[in-house]
Amino acid sequence: MIGATGELGRQVAGALAERGGVEVRAFVRRPLPEGDRAVIDVIVGDLRDRASLEHACAGVSSMFLVSSPTQDQVELETNAIAAAERAGVERIVKVSNIPIAGLESGLHGNHRAIERRLDASSCASTVVQPSFFASVIDKQRDLIAQGKLVLPTGPGKIAWIDPSDIAAVAAEALVRSDLNGPLHLTGPEALDGDEVAARLGVRRIDPPLGRWRDAVVASGLDPWLADSTVHLYEAVARGALAETTGTVERVLGRPPRRVFVS
Ligand SMILES: NC(=O)c1ccc[n+]([C@@H]2O[C@H](COP(=O)([O-])OP(=O)(O)OC[C@H]3O[C@@H](n4cnc5c(N)ncnc54)[C@H](OP(=O)(O)O)[C@@H]3O)[C@@H](O)[C@H]2O)c1
Repeated sequence: MIGATGELGRQVAGALAERGGVEVRAFVRRPLPEGDRAVIDVIVGDLRDRASLEHACAGVSSMFLVSSPTQDQVELETNAIAAAERAGVERIVKVSNIPIAGLESGLHGNHRAIERRLDASSCASTVVQPSFFASVIDKQRDLIAQGKLVLPTGPGKIAWIDPSDIAAVAAEALVRSDLNGPLHLTGPEALDGDEVAARLGVRRIDPPLGRWRDAVVASGLDPWLADSTVHLYEAVARGALAETTGTVERVLGRPPRRVFVS
């Protein structure tokens, strides 16, 4: 499991532990806290370090692949795919995002390039394409505590998804062989920024995207990621992520969880 320390990786390991009968090996940059019941085996390494990836892939049947949204994501995830191929890993489950027409560079371009690499791979693969994680709002918890929420997405609705549903689907895909092809995952309903703010009981702020970009870069966000996000928010405002799908229910046999409700 790559990304075992991340939000999804932790939940996928938990879902596999609950399911039982699966041994999880975590590939991490630093040791996991003691007593993580979901993980049997820990290999410390880095996606930049091919030798550590080879070591981690030995004897593995399925790989969960998620990494951070960075400019070098294609190179890093390609290293993992190549190591999986050399080790004879049967299936790779990759966390991607929903393709949007016109977004062929930046973060979206990276995910499309990795998906093409997986299509050409000798390993079978399942690409999980989730909508916005509802948990992204948690990054604004201090602002929310002051009664405000910044969402520069205009009138666009988003079919927000609970990350635990993404993790549950990914865990299924790791142990089943019938979940092929991209899995376009959404929550049960699409909400615009005003509706999300109303559910949280706060006031929504929808600044012009140029001003938002300058503010997040000034507070330390990688300008490459800020620009990718601006293009994404422009597409969201046009309705690019408003569609809901039945994929979570088809895979899990229950509807996706509602979000922003107590
Ligand atoms: N947030 C959303 O709404 C959303 C929507 C659709 C798709 N996605 C996609 O979901 C993915 C996860 O995003 P996130 O920000 O939520 O991730 P995250 O929770 O920060 O997890 C990223 C994981 O990758 C690991 N990692 C990063 N670089 C690594 C390296 N060089 N070697 C080994 N491990 C490395 C991190 O390890 P460390 O703990 O060591 O850093 C962490 O465990 C991204 O690809 C993003 O595009 C996100």
